[in-house]
Amino acid sequence: GAPVEVDLTPIAEGQIVKVFWRGRLIFIRHRTPDEIKAAADVNVASLRDPQPDAVRVKDGKPQWLVVYGNCTHLGCVPLGNSGEYNGWFCPCHGSVFDTSGRVRGGPAPTNLPIPPYAFASDTKVIIG
Ligand code: FES
Repeated sequence: GAPVEVDLTPIAEGQIVKVFWRGRLIFIRHRTPDEIKAAADVNVASLRDPQPDAVRVKDGKPQWLVVYGNCTHLGCVPLGNSGEYNGWFCPCHGSVFDTSGRVRGGPAPTNLPIPPYAFASDTKVIIG
């Protein structure tokens, strides 16, 4: 599939939007300073799928998190700004994800993966 261009201008801080690329659901989350701090302040070694927040976002753009939008357990769509870490909560079997999309509880084995994407400008991202 062709790359998808997304205008970030209308996405308010704290908001999550859904887009599709190659038939796959993707979340674009405009993280608040508190959400960025919460994601960065985690003891990475304690995570089931240990990944620092910094490797899950682009340099200089920690406010933008771009992740695939299906739970890594059995593929349900997790609810945003929900769950113990205010990241996502999967209503199917209770997986919990943090504001970096990393699994923090429940049966999901891995973090929400990051699709290929790049910033074309400060306000435009190209997925694919
Ligand atoms: Fe999300 Fe099972 S599909 S917890």
